[in-house]
Amino acid sequence: MPRPSLRLHFIVTGLLTLCVALAPALRAQRTPVEAERGMVTSAHELASLAGLEMLQRGGNAVDAAVATGLALTVVYPFAGNIGGGGFMLIRLADGRSIAIDYRETAPSAASRDMYVGPDGNVLTGPNSSTVGWRASGIPGSVAGFALALQKYGSGKVTWADVCEPSRRLATDGHVVSQTTAAGLRTYAKLLGQFEESKKIYLKGGAFLQTGDLWKQPDLGATFTRLQKNGPQEFYEGETARLIVDAMKKNGGTITLDDLKNYKVAERVPLRGAYRGYEILTMPPPSSGGIALLQMFAMLEPHNVSALGAQSAAKYHLFTEVMRRAFCDRAEYLGDPDFVTVPTAQLLDREYLKKRMADFSATQATPSDKIVAGLGPVKLTGTATPRTHLYSESTETTHFSVVDAAGNAVSNTYTLNGAYGSGVTIPGTGILMNNEMDDFTAKVGVKNMFGLLQGPANAIVPGKRPLSSMTPTIVLKDQQLFLVTGSPGGPTIINTVLQIISNVIDFNQSATQAVESPRIHHQWMPDQLSYERNGLSTDTATVLKSLGHSFKERASYEGAYQGDGETIMVDPKTKLRLGAADPRKGDSKAVGH
Ligand code: DON
Repeated sequence: MPRPSLRLHFIVTGLLTLCVALAPALRAQRTPVEAERGMVTSAHELASLAGLEMLQRGGNAVDAAVATGLALTVVYPFAGNIGGGGFMLIRLADGRSIAIDYRETAPSAASRDMYVGPDGNVLTGPNSSTVGWRASGIPGSVAGFALALQKYGSGKVTWADVCEPSRRLATDGHVVSQTTAAGLRTYAKLLGQFEESKKIYLKGGAFLQTGDLWKQPDLGATFTRLQKNGPQEFYEGETARLIVDAMKKNGGTITLDDLKNYKVAERVPLRGAYRGYEILTMPPPSSGGIALLQMFAMLEPHNVSALGAQSAAKYHLFTEVMRRAFCDRAEYLGDPDFVTVPTAQLLDREYLKKRMADFSATQATPSDKIVAGLGPVKLTGTATPRTHLYSESTETTHFSVVDAAGNAVSNTYTLNGAYGSGVTIPGTGILMNNEMDDFTAKVGVKNMFGLLQGPANAIVPGKRPLSSMTPTIVLKDQQLFLVTGSPGGPTIINTVLQIISNVIDFNQSATQAVESPRIHHQWMPDQLSYERNGLSTDTATVLKSLGHSFKERASYEGAYQGDGETIMVDPKTKLRLGAADPRKGDSKAVGH
């Protein structure tokens, strides 16, 4: 008979054992949000709900995506926009897939050296590619959303309907979250330089506080005009006139003809495969799809799952494929309507096998030893086909949508930097992008993401700047399986790589795959960056011994990499499993 204290010990141990036995119920990771019919996941709950509203009215995934995209303009001005552009990858339940490219274009007055000063240095300050009136490309968001709705929407939801949640949120106001209040404060220096932005986003310097009801009447009026006059309002109507007047007054570059001539491009999605899964992703002018498929092809011969999800061996291998893909990105990629992008050669399996021939499992390859793999190529002509041009008188965030029928949308769009160029067009509530910085301002000079870019991405009027945005959809046995993407400049491509690999190689749930720590390497600088607390000391020690140099993230995005708003469709139950990324304070997956 044990002594009383020992008996207590047995009882406690027994209870602990029971707890461990029940552990599956106490999951280490959040469970995904489950829904039987449709799911929307985005960086802001109110924008996800705007999409859900369309699904509940009988709209499809495209209707919902457009409503979510428009609503993010109001509740997530950090990146949501109608003053920027992006990419929408659609995969319809009937098997068709479409990449809608509504990326901004360079104004007609733009030129290769427009951001190079008389001293030969790249300009900083008010005339630069990053801040102010000369930093914007022609916005594509309104035209892109309108095209998507018109061609791929259900037909049950009108343009006025998809604008309505945004009009309501702007006119009646929404409650400011902690994340919104903090974001606006962090960028007070940028926004404070422009009167209209200061008035709207900084309350004249008094700042919006968490819990405030924030009304944006000018933006509400813009949405009312868009509802009444249709999307062409943005390119030819009162809104266009307000944009052009303000541009003229402030030395900006955008003209009325630039707006009128803006064209959305429909492109053929890139298709690749990884361990039997099919991957649909964004073609140029995104660099993301090519780089992603290159990296998967380089990983495939390796037994990644045997390495362990957060092992030094895995991080080493991933870093090596990242640096090789990013080197090719710098050399060969640009707008396919202006330069020949050697897509097929870059994705050729034999080429990628050769690209990894100098890979060593025990030694990092210094980035300056990696050169562009195809040698010099001719950069003229048109290589990637456009299937259709849209010409009817009609800082980055990702959202994913799946509807009851199995249609899916993966959308990434952007103002480029947080709050874009900092400029708000007076009287409209429209915050403008600073996408011109994604072009090569000068060969050999890094852009705001530290990316080195080449002549393929030089500025030409009408051209689209090279992007890293990588909206992606994964199929299993020809069935919809995963819808994902992320913001984060060049880190986007590596975030998407890791989310998909987490699912395929490590059998992680949607939430685990999204929440797991991420790494990033972009060839130059030769630096492996990791999230705060995202790399154990042991792992770092091994990586260091292989010759890697490190940086803990503390850059433009804070300590965390990306915001991978993801939806998985359970192959057996067909449940939609929504995984909002906890790295964004207001992100939310909502379903029905
Ligand atoms: O298109 C691109 O690659 C960039 N303009 C994306 C910028 C971005 O993701 C900023 N994110 N946090």
